[in-house]
Amino acid sequence: MTDPKLKVLISSDRIQARIRELGEQISQDYPEGTLHFIGILKGATFFLTDLARAMKRDVSIDFMGISTYGKGKTSSGEVKVTKDLDISLEGVDVVIVEDIVDSGITLNYLLHLLEQRRPRSLRIAALLDKPERRLRPVHVSYVGFAIPDQFVVGFGLDHAERYRNLDDICVVEESAGIASGA
Ligand code: IMP
Ligand code: MG
Repeated sequence: MTDPKLKVLISSDRIQARIRELGEQISQDYPEGTLHFIGILKGATFFLTDLARAMKRDVSIDFMGISTYGKGKTSSGEVKVTKDLDISLEGVDVVIVEDIVDSGITLNYLLHLLEQRRPRSLRIAALLDKPERRLRPVHVSYVGFAIPDQFVVGFGLDHAERYRNLDDICVVEESAGIASGA
């Protein structure tokens, strides 16, 4: 797709190479037992399917839908579950798979919620991290790329539901009317 408003920040080749590394690393960290990936809809689906295929061991997958209100405007962002999990987490090793950590409000909430379901362990893998934007503390065990405070699209990330299916992660030029962190 060629769109003059888009500038490639992380190419498809770099994304795929990094996902292979993460797959090796996570596989080594969980040599045995049941490992369960939870993808956060919809942005994380592209990362999750590639990461699952980069794993050197069996992994089960599930999805959760979340919506966040008040993000960036207040420090008390409200999070709502719009689609809950199908599979129990009790006693299994869980990795939450997310597209990007921004304020940290979504994942901070989700960690507390999922802890209550008594997984054996709970960690986060995020393709992208914008550490400068953090409002809530979140420990991300597996980070694909740390990026500056810029609004990005592609590889699952959208702006108003557009651009998710780009192979590369791109910055949308400001003239397109997208403020940073929108
Ligand atoms: P947080 O609760 O602020 O950490 O929100 C993270 C969510 O905001 C991500 O799962 C994305 O859906 C969305 N988001 C944050 N930054 C961007 C971006 O640069 N592009 C697209 N979506 C973003
Ligand atoms: Mg998201």
